[in-house]
Amino acid sequence: MNNTSPPPLPRLQDLPRELGLARPLDCRRFLIDGELRQWRGPMQEVRAPFFIQGANGPEQPLIGYCPAHDAATGMQALDAAVAAWDGGLGVWPCLPPHERAACVAEFARRMAEKQTEIVRLMQLEICKSKAECEQEFLRTIDYFKDTIDAHEAMLRASSGLVETERMLAQVRRSPLGVVLCMGPFNFPLNETMATLIPALLMGNTAVVKLPRIGRLLFFPLMDCLHAAFPRGVVNMICGETEAVAPVMASGKVDVLAFIGTSRAAEAMRAMHPRPVRLRCVFGLEAKNAAIILNDADVDLAVKQVMRGAFGFNGQRCTALKLVFAQAGIAPEFTRRLAEAADTLAVGMPWEPGVAITPLPEPGKAQFLDDLLRDALARGARVETSRSGARDASLFEPTVLSGVTAEMRVFHEEQFGPLCPVVTFTDTDEVLRAIAASDYGQQASVFGADLNVLGRLTDRLANLVSRVNIGCKAQRGPDVLPFTARKDSAVGTLSVNEALSAFSIETLVAANMTSEGARQMRRLREGGLSVYLTPERNGQD
Ligand code: G3H
Repeated sequence: MNNTSPPPLPRLQDLPRELGLARPLDCRRFLIDGELRQWRGPMQEVRAPFFIQGANGPEQPLIGYCPAHDAATGMQALDAAVAAWDGGLGVWPCLPPHERAACVAEFARRMAEKQTEIVRLMQLEICKSKAECEQEFLRTIDYFKDTIDAHEAMLRASSGLVETERMLAQVRRSPLGVVLCMGPFNFPLNETMATLIPALLMGNTAVVKLPRIGRLLFFPLMDCLHAAFPRGVVNMICGETEAVAPVMASGKVDVLAFIGTSRAAEAMRAMHPRPVRLRCVFGLEAKNAAIILNDADVDLAVKQVMRGAFGFNGQRCTALKLVFAQAGIAPEFTRRLAEAADTLAVGMPWEPGVAITPLPEPGKAQFLDDLLRDALARGARVETSRSGARDASLFEPTVLSGVTAEMRVFHEEQFGPLCPVVTFTDTDEVLRAIAASDYGQQASVFGADLNVLGRLTDRLANLVSRVNIGCKAQRGPDVLPFTARKDSAVGTLSVNEALSAFSIETLVAANMTSEGARQMRRLREGGLSVYLTPERNGQD
């Protein structure tokens, strides 16, 4: 389906030297129980998603090696986190909250010094463009600062006493226990830290299972974590199911923070023997729709759908994955969208101006090709001059028109640079389709008639968790709540909400006229309870 002949594959010596591919990284040192241990077990090769011309044909260059951790290592990590939690009486959960915040700030300071190395590894491992890797890195540093500020504000707000008719009370938030954090490949650093950091700030201890793809980039951080946090508070494992399944099956994980597919999330949750005890924070797949109404501003709609559907190759949970264009605007909108998609530069992540890069998931280009062929067989048309798989990991930016509910791409999350356009006449058809979907994260609406927009917005708000008016779907800014319905999420992430997700409301209360109430006030005045006393929280 490709109309252009792809450029020849580069050789290793043709690649920029600063990528460091001449010296694959040997990542043996990992953090468990406050020790930087040397792994002596089997190592796993980590190869880049793109192909080069090797001695015997196309090959994926070696970036480095990481431990293939086993069940015993998974359990050592868990035991360390359980010991650091110590039933809620460990050093970390009992540390004054401002001291925990100081540890997180120290980690952020150390991490900031590793930007160049982390960006280099991220480009190579997940093939995100250099500019987007830098953005992810800096967004994560900002996320640390904003989360520390939100944590301070939360402490300030909760350090007061509430007086009801009969009771004097304080509502505080307390940690939950041991958190298992598992981030995704598409935002490996940001979304792992977006669960780990709030979990730690709130006093939980953690086992982090590094993403399946995008794991080497965590190894430069082992020293930083080791230096910033007390023993056992953060433990890293780097394996597949065999390392993590016994951790879940132990029943000792109190919170599962997982970002990935709903199928994997369900499988992980099902391993826990006492599901009532398990809190889940999930960010999962989606099928976000863009709705282009007849009176929409075509320039704006094309620009936003381009960003929404093709940003990082469409590998964002928040990507626009199904476009509904009303019959009056569909031909022009689709033509202009395809023209815009044809201008996207396809290439390697380090090339300036590149937009479409190799897909890191094995078999992904083939999966997208299958979706494309299924749609074509059922009557869809390719609108772009390029389409389909260029090689095993590159997929050309493709716009499809004439998509219908009979096609797989209408229902399945593509998570790639394939943009299906459906033509509709009545907005109720679109609402019914979104209501019937397994997913419920976001939608974007483009139009001019405020009556129609108002009605659509209110209907959509019952179907998804964010309605974007005149702009693409997205997670940010991180201070806004990020959640979804159905198979798309459990719990809410963001700077503020994540602190709640990793903690539980706890009351300290006494009868208003009792000695207990007088004692509560004296505890506060005498600075005898960390949470009751504002200045002991680091507040004035
Ligand atoms: O993959 C899901 C990410 O949360 C997307 O984040 O919308 O800021 O690109 P973003």
